[in-house]
Amino acid sequence: MNTILKKKKLSDNVFQYTVAAPLIARERKPGQFVIVQVDTDFGERIPLTIADADPEAGTITLIFQVVGKTTHHLASLEEGEKVQNLLGPLGKPTHIEKVGTVVCVGGGIGVAPLYPIAQGFKEAGNKVIIIIGARNRELMIFEQEMRAIADELVVCTDDGSYGRKGFVTEPLAEQAKKAPKPDLAVAIGPPIMMKNCAETTRPFGVHTLVSLNTIMVDGTGMCGGCRVTVGGQTRFVCVDGPEFDGHLVDFDNMILRLGAYRSFEKTAHECRLESIARDMDGGTGK
Ligand code: FES
Repeated sequence: MNTILKKKKLSDNVFQYTVAAPLIARERKPGQFVIVQVDTDFGERIPLTIADADPEAGTITLIFQVVGKTTHHLASLEEGEKVQNLLGPLGKPTHIEKVGTVVCVGGGIGVAPLYPIAQGFKEAGNKVIIIIGARNRELMIFEQEMRAIADELVVCTDDGSYGRKGFVTEPLAEQAKKAPKPDLAVAIGPPIMMKNCAETTRPFGVHTLVSLNTIMVDGTGMCGGCRVTVGGQTRFVCVDGPEFDGHLVDFDNMILRLGAYRSFEKTAHECRLESIARDMDGGTGK
């Protein structure tokens, strides 16, 4: 259990792991996530969305971007090695039903968690329009998988190196303006992108779901680390989410809280690199 069976580098700092986790593979539903602890009982716990699962093979697919100490450590593991703890599936599954036309919008690494959700809406009989974006061509992930299920696929890059030049909000606005308007939008990506998607659909009254990616510790609603404000109420992403009505989420508060941990993350990452360097030179400091 928890063994990395396959490791694939999707782009410069994005990795895809196929991990042996039979129970999670059997139970997981689109929209749910796991909490991963890479080493020791005192290591940081990070939430990662389950991008795919194979119940028969007993495996789940995790995709992550290297951004700090823990993801850097996770990326250093090789096939055959294990992650210490894998807790899940956690969070409420996406409510999937036939609604008509669903516009699925993914930005950066957010395209990975969007995949099972788009797949679910397609299987439920919806028309699924998918818009995916990345900073540049090298960072684009899951394009072929999305193309295979989309009724319409729009690809955007910020720098114009592939597909349309510009942000995902532009094709989203075009879809939102159509008559009849889409019945639902789902946006997953960096907080600022989800905020802008919600602001894009708001004037058109297109119900918009977002999947929040906050700091998490226990994943059971006990620590409060993942709290967000939704419709003026405090909500815990791990148990009440991760999906919420994007028009009700206080993104500015969430972005502020995420920023508060950045300096700690940087220090922890630097300490780990120093410790690796010490181990490599045998502690001589040379
Ligand atoms: S992670 Fe602790 S309350 Fe959600």
